[in-house]
Amino acid sequence: MKGILLAGGSGTRLYPLTTSVSKQLLPVYDKPMIYYPLSTLIASGINEILIITTPDDLMLFKKLLKDGSQWGCKLEYEVQEKPNGIAESFIIAENFINNDNVALILGDNIFYFPSLGHVTKKSIINHGATIFAYHVSDPERYGVVEFSNSGRIISISEKPTKPKSNFAIPGFYFFDKNVVEFARKIKPSPRGELEITDIIQMYHKKEMLSVIKMDKGTAWLDTGTVNSLMEASQFVQVLENRQGLKVGCVEEQAYLMKYIDENELRSLSSSFNNKYGKYIKSILDE
Ligand code: G1P
Repeated sequence: MKGILLAGGSGTRLYPLTTSVSKQLLPVYDKPMIYYPLSTLIASGINEILIITTPDDLMLFKKLLKDGSQWGCKLEYEVQEKPNGIAESFIIAENFINNDNVALILGDNIFYFPSLGHVTKKSIINHGATIFAYHVSDPERYGVVEFSNSGRIISISEKPTKPKSNFAIPGFYFFDKNVVEFARKIKPSPRGELEITDIIQMYHKKEMLSVIKMDKGTAWLDTGTVNSLMEASQFVQVLENRQGLKVGCVEEQAYLMKYIDENELRSLSSSFNNKYGKYIKSILDE
């Protein structure tokens, strides 16, 4: 399975923080935001990844992430000229996808899964689409999935004013090769975007959609407002300081997935002359 990491958008809700810098490059405690979704993809066993970003931010992402070979990954880049919506990524990524299955993660979605491998193994599909559902107090801010009493999917809607459930759809999705064709069929929404929920609805109509409810132990953090961005940093800080373990450390995740070996990890650690480098080195000592 291949992965797409969408790091586009103009981040206007965070201005002036994002007037000159991409939102996905802002710090979340001790790492750039994009490290978190990138390590989620890597932890899911995906190391062929297309980063989609804006023309202005492309060079900065390349400077940070390079071609991925330092982490045993293959990173490619494409540009989304205008914020035309999440679903446009599949049209942009058509050549990259090349009839394979693909996972899409949004660059501002931060997950903390105690057992991610477990969850994503279930989602790595050959046919149809798999999405997640996460119980939130403010579903009107997200895509929302409604279930029947027996757990059947009844409806999917994007930012409904009167949500039919508290189950939001996080920005981490798995699709089969039909996704490109579906993306070409949908029309822009009233906000002028190709909506990911329209694609999810198409899979649902064709009875090709599975939804996995994320359990209570999973954290899905939002970074859409200055408050939630701050809270995401605080969450990572509390967890890391308490456990002495890092969340979203790409180098560590690549090593755990055996994409890089001990020597490669050691050489990565020496490129940081600070606490981050010491942490990477400590992984080898354990
Ligand atoms: C997007 C999707 C929405 C999803 C959310 C997750 O919203 O449209 O369905 O629940 O990401 O972060 P947006 O970030 O465009 O407001």
